[in-house]
Amino acid sequence: MKRRQFLAVLLAGLGLFGAAAAQAQQTVKIGLLLPMTGPFASTGRQIEAAARLYMQQNGNMVAGKKIELIVKDDTGVADVTKRLAQELVVTERVNVLAGFGLTPLALATAPIATQAKVPAIVMAAATSIITEQSPYIARTSFTLPQATVGIADWAAKNGIKKVVTMVTDYGPGHDAEKAFKERFTKAGGQVAAELRVPLQNPEFAPFLQRARDAKPDALFVFVPSGVGALVMKQFAERELAKDGIRLIATGDVTDDDILNKMGDVALGVVNSHHYSAAHKSPENKAFVDAFRAANKDMRPNFMAVGGWDGMHLVYQALKKTNGDADGTKLIEAMKGMSWTSPRGPVSIDPQTRDIVQNIYIRKVEKVDGELYNVEFATLEAVKDPVKAAKQ
Ligand code: PHB
Repeated sequence: MKRRQFLAVLLAGLGLFGAAAAQAQQTVKIGLLLPMTGPFASTGRQIEAAARLYMQQNGNMVAGKKIELIVKDDTGVADVTKRLAQELVVTERVNVLAGFGLTPLALATAPIATQAKVPAIVMAAATSIITEQSPYIARTSFTLPQATVGIADWAAKNGIKKVVTMVTDYGPGHDAEKAFKERFTKAGGQVAAELRVPLQNPEFAPFLQRARDAKPDALFVFVPSGVGALVMKQFAERELAKDGIRLIATGDVTDDDILNKMGDVALGVVNSHHYSAAHKSPENKAFVDAFRAANKDMRPNFMAVGGWDGMHLVYQALKKTNGDADGTKLIEAMKGMSWTSPRGPVSIDPQTRDIVQNIYIRKVEKVDGELYNVEFATLEAVKDPVKAAKQ
């Protein structure tokens, strides 16, 4: 090849490369890792539906950049989440990782976010320590201690003196157990037994029997989203209510996704959480109506709102950086951001990157023939209490 020809080929090649690079920079890729199959598929279904609805309503262009959503099914297994996150970062060059349906999945991915300097938006997992595992993690879900203190206070103030706790035996369950005990005993209550049920294939009957033997005023329960119906069924079958034992819970148990199918056993269950499909605000009405219309009348639950707000956080951060998708700039932009979510007013704590939000005390009631968590009291702007105690 002559020198001039060689130069021409080289320049053409460079031109193509340049065009491809420019193209790549015009697109901001979000890798959404979710359990779309397996026992926690409802979490994936809810978050994916909310993320797609957000994009449908807000468009796929932000600050001159095209947003591309890449959804991957991690089946709820931490090794798979980690491998997929690695692939998304190395091969797809995603600018943001998001999703994380369960605590172990978020913990497994934290080192990748740190090494790649890619923000990881936790839309579901709720163990307090998660945001401490990487400076690139921000969370739009909640923490179990944040959700639990409301029901612990309510129980202490409403004649409940002795409680048995029953939680799923992993991070968020341990958080709920500890937060409940600390808060409830501080207010003068007594925790008679602390029961832990396995995460995989849970069987509640033997634990419910032990709870009943302790003769408490109430049973406090945390199980992850999707599992609450089974708890309710076995609570009804064992007839604990007949012995005067009330069921109190975090809102994970009376999850909007499955609440309406639980039947009358759920009626009257008092619980605390950050989101109810029955939350009364114009933003929530618009969200619930649009979500149902786009998803065959599926009711959004707290997972959906975590996904919705996670997308909002990415969109707002990109606007703030004028479309610069550098990971460090994006996570910086997210700190301190505040907005009105379908759940109410929220912000990202600039120190911890956790969400600050209202916690509502709710009671399961029938509204127009359907079961809902009806909010009757509000704790405003609650931070994760575990980190707040250290701040
Ligand atoms: C979690 O694994 O962190 C988790 C999952 C589902 C919940 C709450 C916490 O409802």
